[in-house]
Parts: sequence; C-alpha cells; structure tokens
Amino acid sequence: MLDVQNVSKVYGHNRQAIRALDGVDLRVNRGEFVAIVGPSGSGKTSLLLTMGGLLTPTSGKVLIDGASFYDVGAPARTAMRLKYCGFMFQTFHLIPYLTAAENVMLPLITTGMNARSQREMAEDCLQTVGLEQRKDQKASKLSVGEMQRVALARALVNRPALILADEPTANLDADTASLVIDYLQTFKAEGIAVVLVTHDDRLGQVADRIVQIRQGKTVAPSDSKELS
Ligand SMILES: Nc1ncnc2c1ncn2[C@@H]1O[C@H](COP(=O)(O)OP(=O)(O)OP(=O)(O)O)[C@@H](O)[C@H]1O
Ligand SMILES: [Mg+2]
Repeated sequence: MLDVQNVSKVYGHNRQAIRALDGVDLRVNRGEFVAIVGPSGSGKTSLLLTMGGLLTPTSGKVLIDGASFYDVGAPARTAMRLKYCGFMFQTFHLIPYLTAAENVMLPLITTGMNARSQREMAEDCLQTVGLEQRKDQKASKLSVGEMQRVALARALVNRPALILADEPTANLDADTASLVIDYLQTFKAEGIAVVLVTHDDRLGQVADRIVQIRQGKTVAPSDSKELS
C-alpha cells in the first residue's frame, strides 16, 4: 500500500546541511504493523513525516496505492493525506484552547462535510478511545494520557488506511501505554496499517516487523525483536 523508494532528506544548505534520510526504501502492506527504531537523531521522525505527505523529500518517491505523494500539488497531497493517513505526533500537537471534540474534528475541517457530521464522527472516535465523557473539556485541562487518547481519536477520525505514530507511548504511564497498544492492535486487526516509531519493548513485541534506522539509512533486517 505504501512504498517509500530511495528517499533522501537534506535539511539546510552547504556547510549547515544535515542528511536526515539517506536512500531509504520501505514498503508497508495493508494491515501490517511496523515499528521503526533507532537512536535519537537517526531520522525516524523525518521518515514518518515523509511517509505521510507532511515533509517533502529532497529526492526519491513515496507512493500510496501507486499514486505519488510529492509529484502532485499541495491541495491534491492534502486530499491524499486525508484519504489515507492518520497521525499521532511525538508531542501531541493538540490545540490547548479547543475542546477534545474540536481537536478531533480538525482533520475534517477541509472536507466540506457539515459541522454536525464532523462532530458526530469526532464523538464516535472519542468513544472508541473511552473518552466520550471528556469531549467538552479543553485540551489544556486533560491529563497527559487523555491527551494521547484524544490524539489517537484524531488520527482515526478520517477513517485512514494507515496510522503513523511517533513514539505513541513515550509519555504515558504503564497502564495508559498498554491501553494505547491495545487500541493500535485492534486497528491492525481491522485492517489498518500501523507504522510507529518507538523505544518501547512492548510495541516491538506486537509489531509484525521492526525496521532499524541509523544515520538516515535502514540497516539490514534482523529476526531479533530487540529494540535499540
Ligand atoms: N527542520 C529541521 N531542520 C534542520 N534539521 C533538522 C530538522 N528536523 C530534523 N533535523 C535534523 O535531522 C536529523 C534527524 O532528525 P529526526 O527528528 O528525524 O530524528 P529522530 O530519529 O526522530 O530523533 P528523536 O529520537 O530524537 O526524535 C537530526 O540530526 C535533526 O537535528
Ligand atoms: Mg523523533
């Protein structure tokens, strides 16, 4: 479903240039659960953003069901992202002065769908993550675990085929982390592909495949399920 072909990303120019990704190839099938691991600064977040149409690579291609993310204009790319991808960011990126429900509605704003349907879909997703009773609470007043569940609901609201999650359990206590892992496994069981960056051994255990990245390159796949 998702095909990353020889993707490189260079930030900055000349002497300040940083090669964050260096010729990455990666394929993700429908319903597959892939964990990306590697040291800090190795390019994991850059890769995830590139896979989801949020960061234009310096070279290479990202295809989703055969359509190229970065060979189309920004409006078409936004439409592709909305059709296929849900995101959970490393730092949740909730808008503090909006309510939980309003934050979950955000990806739908550009769809032209009427506000009532947007709200119903958002409330359905909050229910999925067990937060329906917090829907009218401002994001700034939620606990960290609740914020991550709102972020999860927001990743689901456009019914994506692919969820991209950057360290989704990093800031959570063990119980809430288990809950988020359970949800991600449920989505996988429903045929949603999950690609996540993690240092969490429990996520490594449930992944179908672990991709190691070092200095912007994927390293040879190993059968070991040890995380770095
Ligand atoms: N917008 C940017 N401008 C310049 N350099 C950047 C930018 N974003 C990332 N980098 C650099 O690119 C490299 C890869 O960064 P990236 O955020 O992808 O790493 P990461 O593997 O996600 O790290 P971490 O585990 O700490 O989150 C790092 O050296 C980082 O400093
Ligand atoms: Mg990162």
